[in-house]
Amino acid sequence: MQTKTKNKTINNNPIGIFDSGFGGLTVMSTIDEVFPLESFVYFGDTAHVPYGSKSKDTVVKYSKEIASFLVKCKVKLIVIACNTASAFALPILKKTLKIPVIGVVKPGSKAAVFASKNKKIGVIGTEGTIGSKSYLREINKISRCKVYQQACPLLVPLVEEGWNDAEVTASIVQKYVEPLLDKQIDTLVLGCTHYPLLKKTLKKNVGEKIILIDSAEATADEVRNILNKKHLLANTKNKKFLRFYVSDNPGKFKRIGSRFFSKKIFNVKKIEMSC
Ligand code: DGL
Repeated sequence: MQTKTKNKTINNNPIGIFDSGFGGLTVMSTIDEVFPLESFVYFGDTAHVPYGSKSKDTVVKYSKEIASFLVKCKVKLIVIACNTASAFALPILKKTLKIPVIGVVKPGSKAAVFASKNKKIGVIGTEGTIGSKSYLREINKISRCKVYQQACPLLVPLVEEGWNDAEVTASIVQKYVEPLLDKQIDTLVLGCTHYPLLKKTLKKNVGEKIILIDSAEATADEVRNILNKKHLLANTKNKKFLRFYVSDNPGKFKRIGSRFFSKKIFNVKKIEMSC
């Protein structure tokens, strides 16, 4: 609920975050660190993960249902932490919801343009994100850049397996990024929730000179802008909580999710989705 104090409005309602599964917890972990006073409601669509290989219509259908659930939880802002859902569903959710909605593609694109000196930017992501060309479009809205894209469908299962530093992962990463390195990119956008966990392996492959863009950090800045602009920041009286909802297998979410969230996860409830 929004309350007016002397000069500013405060709002102690939670921030809603959703993803196809565990991956969005990397984004939530960053935002939670930046906003220690804020409460969060997270929804992981574990019944339908992965989104990366699904069609736009399907991802939009799931995203709409999750967004309505979050609205019922009285969230004050929705962050679409999933790159694929941001690419496919952000425009429609922005149009239909009364609360602010942000995705990770625009903030990641802004950060990439800001970081790149030679204006040659690589983007890696799921088949859906890359096929949508949403990073390419957003980057070029800000500045004319050469954007080289690469879908990396094998990386999500490897990270979920916990093989972030394994040899097999390193050689698959190398195969995916080689064509981008041939184009002399100086910046690489990690356009998928899972890739921040591969930073070490990626660094080894691309070298120290290429800047890796983690959309989660850029998204936290965007959250700050919106909460400030719309006077939605929580205050110290907020009784902070973190709630997690999933569409399947809460036990697995707690187990695997803790690796993505870098903290133990409690409070996970299963919600039946109708689609
Ligand atoms: N969360 C997805 C993304 O960032 C990756 C996992 C999936 O394919 O669902 O695109």
